[in-house]
Amino acid sequence: MKTTGHAPALTGAKISFLAVAAGLYLFGMAWAQGTKSANQSLEAPHADQAGVEAFRDVASVLLSPRCVNCHVPGNAPLQGEDGRLHNMNVKRAGDGRGTVAMRCTNCHQVTNSPVLHGPPGAPDWHLPPASTPMAWRGLSTGDLCRALKDPGKNGNRSVADLIDHMNTDLVKWAWSPGPGRTVPLMSYDEFISKLIEWKNDEAPCAP
Ligand code: HEC
Ligand code: HEC
Repeated sequence: MKTTGHAPALTGAKISFLAVAAGLYLFGMAWAQGTKSANQSLEAPHADQAGVEAFRDVASVLLSPRCVNCHVPGNAPLQGEDGRLHNMNVKRAGDGRGTVAMRCTNCHQVTNSPVLHGPPGAPDWHLPPASTPMAWRGLSTGDLCRALKDPGKNGNRSVADLIDHMNTDLVKWAWSPGPGRTVPLMSYDEFISKLIEWKNDEAPCAP
């Protein structure tokens, strides 16, 4: 490059450039200091957003046919992928375990029937109490989130208790439901890690 002849002019330009750059840098530092607290408050909704997103995935599991066939608003369990009324006029009854003649465990054993359309099974197969049925179908993601967290609706459980509850036979059954039944879209381990992500973000709900 043949820049020698223009060296003095270039140096001048460089100096003023450096001066401007240094000025901008100092200004930037001052601005960063001054807006630090503002930035922190801007980060809060951003962090919430991660929790809200994690709950969206959690909701896809809660609304899967396997969960909502037991978590029903009415007095009878549902069955199948389309959530039709349980065959044979089975009813929730007082303890969620069926009427005297039609106890759930007359048919539902501790493991799945290996036969297509045979009764699925897990220990103590029953419906939640009528007073807190935790019926989630049809709720928006935000309403589902609030209902799940509401101690008046969830059997007086904290978010940590709810996560513990996911480690029970009836919940885990949804991932091995017997022949002909779909499983939730995400794996059990992913489901738990999404719940923990949501909890660690202070369990926010979408509006
Ligand atoms: C065979 C019926 C059945 C199935 C299937 C089922 N549940 Fe439940 N669930 C119950 C019952 C019964 C309760 C009430 C607590 C109890 O008696 O164990 C309950 C309670 C809950 C609770 C509230 C915590 C509590 O104990 O009050 C949550 C949360 C829950 N279930 C999540 C799920 C999820 C998620 C699925 C699907 C992956 C699912 N359940 C599938 C029967 C079922
Ligand atoms: C007379 C036998 C019998 C009794 C009693 C009975 N069930 Fe069932 N149940 C079945 C059979 C069989 C199936 C499988 C139907 C199929 O897959 O087509 C089934 C399916 C279900 C399903 C659907 C599983 C799914 O996700 O598709 C739920 C939920 C259920 N029963 C809950 C209950 C509850 C709760 C009780 C007691 C209140 C009960 N059942 C009593 C025989 C019975």
